[in-house]
Amino acid sequence: MKRFFKRGSAILTVLAAFGAVPADAEEGNATRGAEAYRACVACHALEPDLHLTGPSLAGFWGRAAGTAEAYLRYSPGLKEAGFEWNAAALDGWLADPAAMIPGTFMVFRGMGDGQARADLIAFLEIAGAPGGGEKAVAAGLIPASWVSATAPQPIGDAPPQARVAAIRHCGDSYFIATEDGRETPYWEKNIRLKIDSVETGPPPGTPVILTAGMQGDRASVIFASLSDLKTVIKEGC
Ligand code: HEC
Repeated sequence: MKRFFKRGSAILTVLAAFGAVPADAEEGNATRGAEAYRACVACHALEPDLHLTGPSLAGFWGRAAGTAEAYLRYSPGLKEAGFEWNAAALDGWLADPAAMIPGTFMVFRGMGDGQARADLIAFLEIAGAPGGGEKAVAAGLIPASWVSATAPQPIGDAPPQARVAAIRHCGDSYFIATEDGRETPYWEKNIRLKIDSVETGPPPGTPVILTAGMQGDRASVIFASLSDLKTVIKEGC
């Protein structure tokens, strides 16, 4: 079909004039593409250096694949791909990432519809240029919240009841003391220990506890670093 259109572009023009194919077929509509970008927000930010499950897409257009600075989780295949991101490369990637880069860590089943890919690529050409996230927001293509996407809310200035002073582990329990003077016991299976080492994380030396779950019986304790985790939690009954 595609080859036929390429060889017979006069025929394509005629078909387009009669509305048989969309006039912008294969050109891409960035407004529709921005809507399709919703599927990417779960894993990608448009803020420079803000890496989530996937690398930041700020300024990726025209850059060599697998080279976002400080993103350490590329698959070997993408790291060694050796091509630059342009419309043709993205068309293959968005159609079927795993077919293009076997063993890729991007879990996305792909978009079968060529026009939908062209639309998304038209949006990515804008959003993936330097400063593109802000431009896409200013142009009304995406809401401002999509720029930082699913990055956690900053917890740097948590209230005293969320600031952890000390953690004891005894038997099957954690006893978590907070800066409001309380010590609360938790079943060890209900506590998740996490590290947030970037700007969104807690200040060094002061982990933050965030309760979760319907009963408030589960909580995450977020540390600024692995060494904080090792020094704050002590064995003690
Ligand atoms: C479930 C999470 C997830 C979703 C959803 C997702 N991605 Fe990804 N993406 C990743 C991961 C992880 C990588 C790194 C893949 C690898 O190293 O093999 C990646 C890599 C990429 C890259 C290569 C970046 C580079 O620096 O070379 C591009 C471009 C990309 N994704 C675009 C998209 C677009 C556009 C969408 C939406 C249609 C999308 N992704 C949806 C997780 C995701």
